[in-house]
Amino acid sequence: MKPKVFVSRPIPDQGLDLVKESCDGEIWEGELPPPRDVLLSKVKDIEGILCLLTERVDAELLDSAPNLKVVSNMAVGFDNIDVAECTKRGIPVGNTPGVLTDTTADLAWALLMVGARRIVEGMDYVRAGKWKSWGPMLLLGQDVYGATLGIIGLGRIGAAVAKRARGFDMRILYYDVRRRKDLEAEWGLEYVDLDALLRESDFVTIHTILSPETHHLMGEREFQLMKETAILVNAARGPIVDPEALYEALKEGQIAYAALDVTEPEPINMDNPLLELDNIIIVPHIGSASYATRDKMAEMAARNLIAGLKGERLPNCVNPEVYGE
Ligand code: DGY
Repeated sequence: MKPKVFVSRPIPDQGLDLVKESCDGEIWEGELPPPRDVLLSKVKDIEGILCLLTERVDAELLDSAPNLKVVSNMAVGFDNIDVAECTKRGIPVGNTPGVLTDTTADLAWALLMVGARRIVEGMDYVRAGKWKSWGPMLLLGQDVYGATLGIIGLGRIGAAVAKRARGFDMRILYYDVRRRKDLEAEWGLEYVDLDALLRESDFVTIHTILSPETHHLMGEREFQLMKETAILVNAARGPIVDPEALYEALKEGQIAYAALDVTEPEPINMDNPLLELDNIIIVPHIGSASYATRDKMAEMAARNLIAGLKGERLPNCVNPEVYGE
């Protein structure tokens, strides 16, 4: 008999076909995530779950799934999962690192460029029929080439953003708990503390994980340190930025612009005052949303799931402690 699993949304066939081959899979067909009570009932008899960042995998869910052998998250981030709780129960947790690095870095870069060169305002201007002539003062923005870029979090994605910045002849600062002396030497990156990064950067881009230490890392004090012309990009996790402080900073002109792929909460509430501002763009968490990358993520997540069901080591495991490592 094939092991029972729950897949919390339709995912690309590259992953789904693998799951169907080896498992008795129930796929949640909704466009939205399963409501919490439904999710808890769906996991009752399963041995594996392939979930997304929209599903909270915590002690309550684990209690509801006594046969669970593996949690496979189709994302590189895993802040939706109580990993310590999984580890305590001997359940390996899989994620999808690497395959989405460049796609997410491309999106962060697109946000940066769109903010710098006022692309969305330009489109609105054209659509509104306001384009009557070339204008010497029309929609002036910030130069990206030669400017200073501050990267908060120089993991895989932060480093891929730095790589792109080199092509724009930028001065590249970074802040991370871990120093990357190799990249400092190879690419001329400068390691600075967070305050210096915020003070000196024309563009600040966030690529750190969400953890208790990075929750609301960007708040009132941090925005006050930034240049009035600075642009903030967040393609990591929404709660790294305090949304009320961001609103004040944008409204009061403490910073010039924000370009967000992620918000707190997600999705953003339609009455959130950030949506009333002109100096912001928000896209709906699409950092890894290319066809090719989502195919690879789905396949990776399926392979993690299947390995866990067989009692084999997950190819990408976030809690190797379960293997006694
Ligand atoms: C992740 O993988 O963590 C992204 O946020 C979604 O691709």
